[in-house]
Amino acid sequence: MAAKIISGTEVAGQIREELRKEVTELKEKHNVIPGLVTILVGENPASISYVTGKQKTAKELGFYSLQDNQPDNITEEVLLGLIDKYNNDPKIHGILVQLPLPKHINETEVLYAINPKKDVDGFHPVNLGKLMIGEADYLPCTPAGVQQLLIRSNVETSGAEVVVVGRSNIVGKPVTNILLQKQKGANATVTICHTGTKDMASHTRRADILIVAAGKPKAITADMVKEGAIVIDVGVNRIGKSESGKAILCGDVDFEAVKEKAGAITPVPGGVGPMTITMLMMNTVKSAKVHAGLV
Ligand code: GUN
Repeated sequence: MAAKIISGTEVAGQIREELRKEVTELKEKHNVIPGLVTILVGENPASISYVTGKQKTAKELGFYSLQDNQPDNITEEVLLGLIDKYNNDPKIHGILVQLPLPKHINETEVLYAINPKKDVDGFHPVNLGKLMIGEADYLPCTPAGVQQLLIRSNVETSGAEVVVVGRSNIVGKPVTNILLQKQKGANATVTICHTGTKDMASHTRRADILIVAAGKPKAITADMVKEGAIVIDVGVNRIGKSESGKAILCGDVDFEAVKEKAGAITPVPGGVGPMTITMLMMNTVKSAKVHAGLV
């Protein structure tokens, strides 16, 4: 039987509707407007596309939103100065520096410079450390989006065998930490597979929930998936361009084959992608509330 398609577009739409109401109420009752700045260095086409999506959504939700474009040859010192400016700007509740940064800039230094209380990406080590001990203020957006997709699709995570493919700091490690917490929407038994894993398929075939962030198109084939498993594909691979010049995307899972075996699966595009942006908006609203002393 073909898998149920878990639509991130649909779930993200529900959450955005909830956020829109919250933003209106914050404005009307408390005169608080969530503020988000996205800093883009250089002209990487994928980064431009991500940042444009983030800004568009922020505007749609009624945020105060700023797009700060900087040239490829900006010095680290100037970039750190900009971050300092936004750290001290009371209208800004969320600061996002789009990654990757040019090679001459130390990415870690830049992420460390963001005030953890404005780190709506959830990448600052303070926030990652808090996540590790189950005290997170801001969850990284993509892993948080994966968890919300599972919760809102009524997938039982408690006691489930979750296998994560990929150990990145942005997805694999944080999603593992989120799902193993003794909390609602978590409490799973989690295994991480990576490029050093021997016999990957022996792990992925055990998964009730398979989360794939391998960074490789069609890394997961149907023979690697258990019948009825829930498959969450975090991959975004640009495999070409349409006639109109739009990027053609595919995930890390062989969607056509795996959907015949899985119980449910997320598509690419329209799966995890829209959830990432939505979680960024949710973190920014939360930050605005924290800064206003409302939570
Ligand atoms: N580059 C790819 N994904 C992300 C993300 O979630 N946040 C930032 N800041 N950069 C990224």
